[in-house]
Amino acid sequence: MLGMRDDAYPQGTLGVNDDAIAQKDKFDRSVFKLNGYIPRIAIMGGTFDPVHYGHMVAAEAVRQEFGVDEVRFIPAHSPPHKEAGGRADPWHRYMMTALATADNRAFFPSMIEIERGGKSYAVDTVRALRRELGGDAKIYFITGADAVLEILTWKEPDALLSVCDFVAVTRPGYKRETLLAFIEKLGKDSGGKIHFLEVPALAISSSDIRARVFLGKSAKYLMPDRVLDYIEKHGLYAMPRDSAARRSAEAVLEYLRANISGERLAHTMGVAEQSVRLAQVHGEDIELAYLAALLHDCAKELPGGEISRLAVQGGAVLDELTAAFPVLLHGDAAAQLAPAMFGIDDPRVLAAVRSHTIGRPGMSALEKILFIADTLDTGRDAEAGDTHRDRRAKIRDLAFSQRNLDAAVYETLALKRDHTLGKGAKMHPLADTALEHYRPVSL
Ligand SMILES: [Fe+2]
Ligand SMILES: [Fe+2]
Repeated sequence: MLGMRDDAYPQGTLGVNDDAIAQKDKFDRSVFKLNGYIPRIAIMGGTFDPVHYGHMVAAEAVRQEFGVDEVRFIPAHSPPHKEAGGRADPWHRYMMTALATADNRAFFPSMIEIERGGKSYAVDTVRALRRELGGDAKIYFITGADAVLEILTWKEPDALLSVCDFVAVTRPGYKRETLLAFIEKLGKDSGGKIHFLEVPALAISSSDIRARVFLGKSAKYLMPDRVLDYIEKHGLYAMPRDSAARRSAEAVLEYLRANISGERLAHTMGVAEQSVRLAQVHGEDIELAYLAALLHDCAKELPGGEISRLAVQGGAVLDELTAAFPVLLHGDAAAQLAPAMFGIDDPRVLAAVRSHTIGRPGMSALEKILFIADTLDTGRDAEAGDTHRDRRAKIRDLAFSQRNLDAAVYETLALKRDHTLGKGAKMHPLADTALEHYRPVSL
């Protein structure tokens, strides 16, 4: 028996497949050490909020490429480089990781960072593993290519690079040259060893999954079914059934279905999706982003006189342009309807609804998100004669990939300006002021 497993180790298969064997594992490990075998362990760090096939395919690729005996999935208690806390608590994130790794003999979940509590620093985790495995063990730390580029801002980067190898996994389309140049420079500077591995499945992302679950869209085939079952069972990433926000959202949807055109309803749902996704990416409140998006055009199909009346009631002042084109005030009108009709009175939501049409200087993050989402609604790409597709792709890139909301707001304002002037219409002075406010300094 021991002889068999002795043979199995160098081929990179640990062979731990049930409790009895796991109990023996520590003993076996010491025997292998005596035999001169050097264990190879990979650490898969992350928030795992939730764990998905991107993580698992990356881990399996590393296991195979580097002949790793086991990959430990280690959910962070609190990641130092992301916004505070995950959206699911650490215990749920650990449980999902345990469920996902259960059927791979070489994958193991680890509570080490959750038990340690506080901020989860990679260097502390790797040191603990080094103590456990001894000085000879080969340790690989798997992380995203974006994270590797920031490695020098991590806690004790030199110590970290000296105690383990890094495997930078990238999603498709990643600018490989940047990373390779960085790796080369880092290799020379500190002796750190960073490997590079392209993993197609990394196009799957946890924030996309959270947005899908929140919006009631299918997240099947993005992660093991048993993880999805767990998410549904515990209501993770969804609006709580008995919450006021959920009741408000249902009231708005009921109103929209009965009172606005199918086209506008489809647009509203498209904006809701973009808003939720942007809020996920930028760490803003997704419930508020969702409610603001549902509300944003609820008054747009009312008669002009009614829009003006509601807007003025809410404090809007008519000027030359809005008096002639009351539809410009449909955001103000919607914000006026929201508290009485749908019980939504959160000033952050109402401000976003108000400013979504014209924009303004000094918008909050939520206002920016709705303003951009309104233009990004993917349904618009399918519109006949659409000449703005490339510009929307640029806005999408700025907002989602480069995570620069201000630059995305500027491009959105510029697109609206060109569209308005192209029709021979006038730009609202407030939109002009906003355009100047958000104009990037370098332009
Ligand atoms: Fe609108
Ligand atoms: Fe809209």
